Amino acid sequence: MTVIAIIQQKGGVGKSTITANLAGELVEKRLIVRVLDLDPQQSLATWARMGGGILSEIVGPVSIKSPKEFKAVVDAASNEAERVILDCPPGLPDTGMMAALMADLVILPVTPSPLDVIASKAALELIRDVQKQRAKGRPLIAYAPSRIIQNTVLARDLEKTLAPTKEKILPGISQRIAIAESVLMGLTLREYAPSSEGVKEFTDMATAVERMVKA
Ligand SMILES: Nc1ncnc2c1ncn2[C@@H]1O[C@H](COP(=O)(O)OP(=O)(O)OP(=O)(O)O)[C@@H](O)[C@H]1O
Ligand SMILES: [Mg+2]
Repeated sequence: MTVIAIIQQKGGVGKSTITANLAGELVEKRLIVRVLDLDPQQSLATWARMGGGILSEIVGPVSIKSPKEFKAVVDAASNEAERVILDCPPGLPDTGMMAALMADLVILPVTPSPLDVIASKAALELIRDVQKQRAKGRPLIAYAPSRIIQNTVLARDLEKTLAPTKEKILPGISQRIAIAESVLMGLTLREYAPSSEGVKEFTDMATAVERMVKA
């Protein structure tokens, strides 16, 4: 009954990729997981159907017509599943705001590009506003470094750049061809390329997420 929202204003930063693989890793941890694809383009739900793997069983498309309807859909999913993951479309605030209002944890994927880091401040401000409206410091916030190109200055600087926000930084995900391919196949990386080193990155991210939501 924990709701995790993946939010970021910018497109293409890895929201849906992190959603899919985090969901897959939580299933590996024997949790009942449901993913709601809130993107009107429904790319994750469409890929998942094509892939025929674990994602085809747990990802559902959702079209939201009102905040009230949205709450009902998320509540229904929370009644069935132990972890509900909301894959938000790019852009703020509408869906992002509704998702943040329902979430126990918001994950903000951020790539090492300086422009992305600057753009991501808007999402952080939005979530902090929601925190002020809600009790008990909810939602929790965590950055998820995404599409990291190893051994680059930008990648090394990302943590330093994010540090002043004082928000939690999850173990990051590298840029890998196999990840891009797995998305197109509608599979998790674990299903598509079980021996990829990226699988451990997603496992470590999921372990850190579980530590946060259980604390
Ligand atoms: N770690 C990675 N390594 C390689 N390719 C990646 C990685 N993460 C994402 N991609 C690729 O980048 C593209 C965008 O990723 P994704 O769809 O997850 O981003 P998004 O933030 O959900 O985008 P949108 O805002 O359009 O919903 C996809 O083609 C995906 O395969
Ligand atoms: Mg997406």
